[in-house]
Amino acid sequence: MDANQKKKVILSGMQPTGGLHIGHLTGALRNWVEFQDEFECYYTIVDLHAITVRQEPASLRRWTLDLAATFLACGIDPERSHIFVQSHVPEHTQLAWVLNCFTGMGECSRMTQFKDKSQKYPENVNVGLFAYPILMAADILLYQADLVPVGADQKQHLELTRNLAERFNHQYSETFKVPEPYIPKVGAKIMNLQNPTKKMSKSDENLSGVLFLIDDDAQIANKIKRAVTDSGNEILYREDKPGISNLITLFHIATNKPIPEIEQEFNGKGYGEFKKAVAEAVVEFLRPFKMRYKEIRANEDFLKELLKKGAEVARKVAGKTLQKVYRKIGFLQL
Ligand code: TRP
Repeated sequence: MDANQKKKVILSGMQPTGGLHIGHLTGALRNWVEFQDEFECYYTIVDLHAITVRQEPASLRRWTLDLAATFLACGIDPERSHIFVQSHVPEHTQLAWVLNCFTGMGECSRMTQFKDKSQKYPENVNVGLFAYPILMAADILLYQADLVPVGADQKQHLELTRNLAERFNHQYSETFKVPEPYIPKVGAKIMNLQNPTKKMSKSDENLSGVLFLIDDDAQIANKIKRAVTDSGNEILYREDKPGISNLITLFHIATNKPIPEIEQEFNGKGYGEFKKAVAEAVVEFLRPFKMRYKEIRANEDFLKELLKKGAEVARKVAGKTLQKVYRKIGFLQL
């Protein structure tokens, strides 16, 4: 790359709403770590988004630090990337307000995540939940992000972000970079151990099918031992064997062995023996992460200092964009 050419900007966010599981690590976070080599990265802990669903204050505070420690333990390097908490950068809510005034009610009510969540929490269908994607647009547009790595469930929100950016640019003048979605090469999807046709998710009802990154070794082994399997007794990666296929995926991720080799290795062996091997492999795979996590999480002063610095840098960048916006829409400048 030309030395004068600026690196492309990547921004992504994660909600501090509970422990992360192995799917976060092998899906999103592993990519986030890799992006650092090529891009200027902003990784934000989106606590403002989290409160669209009721949160217990002490848990929210704890989970925010947990998530920061998780980022670092995975290999996100605060010297190279900007890690910050969304609520520490008031420009997010400020730009979100402006964008609210450029978004149609219909655009928000069409969002499938809003529809899903209002069904799931009918007792708390609040305006924040409705405006959630507009706040997400603000997160992205403030940093003039070129690329936004998101899962399939967030693509619609990114589409709205692009529309809002174009709308504003068109009505005033070039202000926002119109971001592209970055759909990373998907690693193998990890399914819930108790319901192997459903993706592993931290909001699952059945948490005994979810492998949390901070589960202890015995918990991991137990969950894998109790994983739902399929009829028959062969260790084969096949569509009609979702339970065993999921365990093969886990073994593959933990050991890096190709799937046919795994099938070969366990040819003629029973489910029990295989599960034991998977449990051991996953425990070993998570061990280095857990050791780093424990050490980092124990040092709250260090984490807070790091988040403070992250927010300072973020505010400089975000403030510049917000000033431009305020000027263009006609807010009096003193
Ligand atoms: N809505 C995203 C999710 O739940 C989190 C998020 C908030 C985000 N702001 C963002 C993701 C900006 C990417 C960019 O997964």
